[in-house]
Amino acid sequence: MKKLAAILSSFMVIMMLAACGSETGKEEKASGSAAGGDEKKTIRVVTDAAYAPFEYLEGDKIVGFDVNFLNAAAKEAGYDVKLEHVGWDPLFVELKSKRAAAGISAITIDEERKQTYDFSSPYFLSINKILVPEGSDIKSADDLKGKIVAVQSGTTGQAAVEKLLGKNHKNIKKFENNNLAIMELINKGADAVVADNAVVEEYAKNNPKQKLKVVEDPDTFDAEFYGIMFPKGSELKADFDKAIAAILDNGTYEKIYKERFGTAPDLEKLKQ
Ligand code: ARG
Repeated sequence: MKKLAAILSSFMVIMMLAACGSETGKEEKASGSAAGGDEKKTIRVVTDAAYAPFEYLEGDKIVGFDVNFLNAAAKEAGYDVKLEHVGWDPLFVELKSKRAAAGISAITIDEERKQTYDFSSPYFLSINKILVPEGSDIKSADDLKGKIVAVQSGTTGQAAVEKLLGKNHKNIKKFENNNLAIMELINKGADAVVADNAVVEEYAKNNPKQKLKVVEDPDTFDAEFYGIMFPKGSELKADFDKAIAAILDNGTYEKIYKERFGTAPDLEKLKQ
């Protein structure tokens, strides 16, 4: 019996070593050079997959416009992508510490973030809008004053509402992800949610039973562009900028956009 146990345990050690070996092998392949060698370099990209239609989970699969766009851009640039859902705040930490090579998450290119990170050229035009119950008396951004507003923490939506109500105002409820902010609205813990237009529009449309509508205020909210975010100084930026320009030109971007949104993108706005 003892002998059998000894054989078994040494067998298990061998199996474990074998498993480790193949893991390391994968890593080695992954860090090979993109140019030259036939083996494509795999880059780890992080996201907050709670922001439909840009990135969301279908079972344990991350899907959405950003995923399709990223895959097309990466293919054009010659990289394989390992996309991982880590959440919004962790995404920034992962990039800052360079544990991830890039982040995609409907991330708005803004001056503050540009201090710490690099961005690809713009790939999507967006603006904040206000999600409210159908019967709401909120008709403009100004009407948010005196109301409880739910936002995803650390987003341009939060910044836009702070500009109106004041920084750290008690009426601003901040959530770790945007779906939680919308839940707060549905559960009547908030009067409005401010987030990217495509996100609130899609939510209102796909959930008619919730009886929500979208209020816009382009005089108050600024146009925003999304970019793929990289650690500062990343060599990937140049490759991806080139790839994005290529897929904007060759119809690939337009195809992906139409598949998701049913309309044609305004390519001129993205290229300027
Ligand atoms: N565009 C906004 C920003 O950059 C919101 C992005 C939120 N993205 C997400 N996947 N939750 O601040």
